[in-house]
Amino acid sequence: MAIDPKIQAAINKQINHEMTAAYNYLAMVVYFEQINLAGFAFWMRKQHEEELAHAAKLFQYLSDRGGKVELEAIPKPSSDFGSVADVFEAALKMEQANTASINAVYALAKDVNDYATLSHLQWFLDEQVEEEKTMEETLGLVRFAGDDKSALLTLNSQMANRPEEESETA
Ligand SMILES: [Fe+2]
Ligand SMILES: [Fe+2]
Repeated sequence: MAIDPKIQAAINKQINHEMTAAYNYLAMVVYFEQINLAGFAFWMRKQHEEELAHAAKLFQYLSDRGGKVELEAIPKPSSDFGSVADVFEAALKMEQANTASINAVYALAKDVNDYATLSHLQWFLDEQVEEEKTMEETLGLVRFAGDDKSALLTLNSQMANRPEEESETA
């Protein structure tokens, strides 16, 4: 069944959201590298790669459905953050906005009884639960460390151990 033009447009918008998130996470890598927090930079680079993978998943799905991918412009991200906590606050907000965006595509697919799209988006809904949880936990730890530089450096070392995510390779 040919994909509904409204769903095609919504998926294209979502591809742009994922690419925008990827670019914003890359800007956070820049920030962490500037202040020599290599562990945080490494962790954020993984996050950047994850978002690229999300965009690629949607790209592939739309192609598989015979739809047309439209690549839109990605806004310039900011690397100006006041603190490590500011970065994770921004990251959490971005993930919350992305969850809302995926929910909106899901609602639209439900409206037009596009079961294949609903099924494909299931993975993204689960992923967003994970993403919000991760950002909330990390923000909590960073806030807990506060102005304690040695605590932040311990966190920095731990962030360098971020494993490959299984769901990304699935
Ligand atoms: Fe994503
Ligand atoms: Fe994400």
